[in-house]
Amino acid sequence: MINRRHLLSMGVSAGAVSAFGSFARPSYAQSGSLKIGILLPFSGTYAPLGEAIMRSLELYTNSHGGKLAGREVSFVKVDDESAPPKATELTTKLIKGEKADILIGTVHSGVAMAMVKIAREDGIPTIVPNAGADIITRAMCAENVFRTSFANSQIGRATGDSMIKAGHKKAVTVSWKYAAGEEMVGGFKKAFAAGKGEVLKDITIPFPDVEFQSALAEIASLKPDCVYVFFSGGGALKFIKDYAAAKLGIPLWGPGFLTDGVEAEAGAAGDGIKTVLHYVGDLDNPENKAFVAAFQQAYKIPPDVFAVQGWDAAHLLDIGLKAVDGDTAKRTQLNAAMAAASFNSPRGPFKLSSAHNPVQNFYLRELKGGKNNYLGLAAAAIADDTVGCKLA
Ligand code: PHB
Repeated sequence: MINRRHLLSMGVSAGAVSAFGSFARPSYAQSGSLKIGILLPFSGTYAPLGEAIMRSLELYTNSHGGKLAGREVSFVKVDDESAPPKATELTTKLIKGEKADILIGTVHSGVAMAMVKIAREDGIPTIVPNAGADIITRAMCAENVFRTSFANSQIGRATGDSMIKAGHKKAVTVSWKYAAGEEMVGGFKKAFAAGKGEVLKDITIPFPDVEFQSALAEIASLKPDCVYVFFSGGGALKFIKDYAAAKLGIPLWGPGFLTDGVEAEAGAAGDGIKTVLHYVGDLDNPENKAFVAAFQQAYKIPPDVFAVQGWDAAHLLDIGLKAVDGDTAKRTQLNAAMAAASFNSPRGPFKLSSAHNPVQNFYLRELKGGKNNYLGLAAAAIADDTVGCKLA
């Protein structure tokens, strides 16, 4: 029996250990339940993102009577703290210790890369509901690994294209220094250069620091005509407030992670921020209307992009499970059904590329009065660059 003290001695955090309370419970497989291992941040700057994803996974399951494909669902939740050094240990515990049937995780690209490495070796059907690390659906792509969110470069390019269309010519970028920031900036720079835009400087800040004053001073002296930013969660809110307080008067842009989930708290400080994202709350389609109403009723707040990604992870899994009557031992058929899935998501039409990354629309939004408003379609049915999945 692996107990709490044993895990702590192996460097697993107290928060994560308490999530492993179910080690002492009888095996769900024996009782017919479907055990879904959840690796998400429930603490730290990305905690609200993990929470939004979890809420949708539970909402979807509850709206299907607590079952998927006829099987009672149990979630085993682990807090990954967005800490890459802990990811291998925690993923192994979910797969080998908890013997999860399915793995869903996570938010942070660095954690996800370590998680996916293990998931590929094991073969457990795995869904990534946020982390955008390009490599997951490029070189690491695998038969059993799916993503219901985006690839970092994919969204960076879509945002850069929109900034060119808006007439911008000289940019400064600011981002957290790890895979997500580097790739979102990389994708942006390709699109911006293709449109004859010039990047004056890339400013990076260690994750998850929120000390932005020297970056703001540099922007003031460089005088770009726009600023492109990747921050998310608690860090994004702090950046929005600091940027407004600096009164630079330079248009602020970024992938919509900058504003999703923090728009209400940003208040007037967020007015005028333009973002590009694969979701916006006022999309006029029946799936979105039903989803927004159900989420609002259950949690008393509107859903954000992270909630949509969690909802679609549950939907995708449901499609896969139905194809095998809930028998997760039939991994090949389950994976094939998820790879072929095509459905209407709250974000619009949803399908996967051969590398299992969404092919999707991107929308231009503007934040005003604490709400992201839909300005129009930025790009339709965009896939990430891929050479196709060469299965391991
Ligand atoms: C990531 O690490 O891939 C990541 C984190 C937060 C976001 C988007 C991407 O909002």
